[in-house]
Amino acid sequence: MSDLAGKRVLLIVPGGIAAFKIPELIRLLRGRDCGVTCVLTQSGAQFVTKLTLQALTETTVYSDLFSLTDENEMGHIQLSRSADLVVVAPATANILAKMAAGIGDDLATTLLLATDKPVLAAPAMNVRMWLHAATQANMALLAARGVEVVGPDDGAMACNEYGPGRMSEPPAIVAAIEALLAPPHALDGAHAPLAGRHAPLAGKHAIVTSGPTHEPIDPVRYIANRSSGRQGHAIAASLAALGARVTLVSGPVSVPDPPGVTVLHIESARQMLAACQDALPAEIAVCAAAVADWRVAIAASGKIKKTPGAASPTLELVPNPDILATLSAPGPRRPHLVVGFAAETDDLMANAQAKRTRKGCNWIVANDVSPETGIMGGAENAVHLITADGVEDWPRLAKDEVARRLATRIAEALA
Ligand SMILES: Cc1cc2nc3c(=O)[nH]c(=O)nc-3n(C[C@H](O)[C@H](O)[C@H](O)COP(=O)(O)O)c2cc1C
Repeated sequence: MSDLAGKRVLLIVPGGIAAFKIPELIRLLRGRDCGVTCVLTQSGAQFVTKLTLQALTETTVYSDLFSLTDENEMGHIQLSRSADLVVVAPATANILAKMAAGIGDDLATTLLLATDKPVLAAPAMNVRMWLHAATQANMALLAARGVEVVGPDDGAMACNEYGPGRMSEPPAIVAAIEALLAPPHALDGAHAPLAGRHAPLAGKHAIVTSGPTHEPIDPVRYIANRSSGRQGHAIAASLAALGARVTLVSGPVSVPDPPGVTVLHIESARQMLAACQDALPAEIAVCAAAVADWRVAIAASGKIKKTPGAASPTLELVPNPDILATLSAPGPRRPHLVVGFAAETDDLMANAQAKRTRKGCNWIVANDVSPETGIMGGAENAVHLITADGVEDWPRLAKDEVARRLATRIAEALA
C-alpha cells in the first residue's frame, strides 16, 4: 500500500504557467490513493480549468471566498483544516508575497492564513522574479515560519530565459508530499526538522494493543473473536506519525505491521499482558485489542481426539487477566494516559461509562459491534469518546480517520 493511501491534500493552484503540470500532479497523487481537493485562484483559472481539476480530483473545486454554495457545502475554515497537508503549486511570486505578508484577500490566501496544517510550496516563476530581493526575502520569512518548499529547479523557462524558477516536476512534488506525510521514522535526514516541528508526541512512548487473542484449547484448536486489528494498527500508525515511539502488541491478524512501529506478536491474553508490562514505562497506553475474557482452564497438551461413542468434551473456562485494568492501576509505572475500548452490542453508552470507572482508565472509546453495524472486522468505525469531561459522539468514519483523530486528541491532552 502507498504511504499516501488515505491521506488528503488541499491543493491550491495559483496563476503560473506551470499550472499545466497540475493535472499530472493530481493524477500521480490519485494513483497513490491520496485524496486531493483543489482551490483555484482567479488567475489560476486562466491556465487550467475548474472542470479539468474537478474531473481529475472527482470532487468540488473551490475558488470563491464569497460563494454561498461553497460556504454552505464546506465553510472556508473547515476547508483549511480538512486536509493533512496544504500544497501550493505552482506557487507564484504573488501568492508567496501574500503568504509572507499575511494577506487574505481571496479564498486561497484566506485558507493559507486559517489552516493549522503543514504547508508545502512549489515555487514557479521567471528567473528574475525568483531572484528578486522581495521574493527571496519572502521565501526566507516563509521558511523561518515553517513553510516547506520543494524546488524551484534550474532550467529553460517558458519565457525563453534560463535559470532557477522552474517548478519541480510532479514526481518530485509527490516525493516531497510523501516525505511530509509519511511517518517521521521514514523521513531522511533532510526532513528531520519537520519531524520535530510536526511531531507533538516526539519523546513519548506509546503502547498499543490490537487484534484478537487466541486462547488454546489444545495444540491445534483455540477460542478467538472477529477482531481484525485494523483499528488498533491504525492507531499505532497515527501515534507514530505524530512522533511517538510506538510498541504495538498484536494478536494474530492478517493486516500488515505498520511501518516504523515495534511490533510484538503474541497469541494469548496472558502473553499480551506480559508483553505490555515488559514494554513499560510508557506515557500512553491504548488498549484496542479484543482480548478474550476467558481461557480454557487447562489446555490439552495433545490434540483432543473424537472417540466414537464418547461424550463431547466440556471446556472449563477461567477468567483471563484484565490488561486494561492492570495498566490503569495506580503506581509509578502507570502510563499518564490510558485509553480503553469498549466493544458492546447492548446498552453501549451505559456499559462503556461503567467500564471506564471499573477499569480506572482515563478514556474509553465506545463502539457498537452489533453484526448489522459491520464495524467488527470492517473498514469503518462509529465511536463515542468518553472522558472525565463528558462524551464526544464522532460520526461514522474510516478507521484510519478515527485513529488520526484519536492520536490528535491524545497529543492535545499531553501537550
Ligand atoms: C502568461 C502568464 C504567465 C504567468 N506565469 C507566472 C509564473 O509562472 N509565476 C508567477 O509567479 N507569476 C506568473 N504570472 C503572473 C501571475 O499570474 C500574477 O502575478 C497573478 O496575479 C497571480 O495571482 P495568484 O497568485 O493569485 O494566482 C503569469 C502571468 C501571465 C499573464
